[in-house]
Amino acid sequence: MIWVNIHLISWLLLIVTVLLSFALKDKLATIFMMITRVLYIPILASGFMLALFRVPRDPVLGSLKVILGLAVIALLEIGFARKNRNNLSANILWTLGIVFVATSLLGLVLAGWYFF
Ligand code: HEM
Repeated sequence: MIWVNIHLISWLLLIVTVLLSFALKDKLATIFMMITRVLYIPILASGFMLALFRVPRDPVLGSLKVILGLAVIALLEIGFARKNRNNLSANILWTLGIVFVATSLLGLVLAGWYFF
């Protein structure tokens, strides 16, 4: 399953680039925000292919995973915009963290805890 491997690798890289985007300042943070945005492409493409397989087999959890995955991307963009305007709140980071963990857990459950 090539798509699940692409999804997993992008997920691992995303964790690193997101942490650095929020931890670093100014130019370095911007660079990691850009890298995070590039990672959306393989995540979305592989997620879409996985959804084509998973949603017909598990419509409820499969669709929930798609919604959560898109929510993570939306929350990341909200977080980045807030950070750039120096308006980042703990609430946004907590929401992002919880939704990120929930998305990852549901994905791992759906994929039967597959790690490469
Ligand atoms: C940044 C957002 C996302 C994160 C953090 C994320 C994370 C994950 C993780 C960790 C897995 C488990 C992979 C494995 O163990 O092999 C997974 C599976 C999955 N993801 Fe995502 N994902 C995201 C976005 C998306 C999007 C946008 C979609 C759909 C368009 C999607 C659809 C799926 C599906 C359908 C599975 C289940 C794979 C299977 O049934 O074998 N994900 N996701």
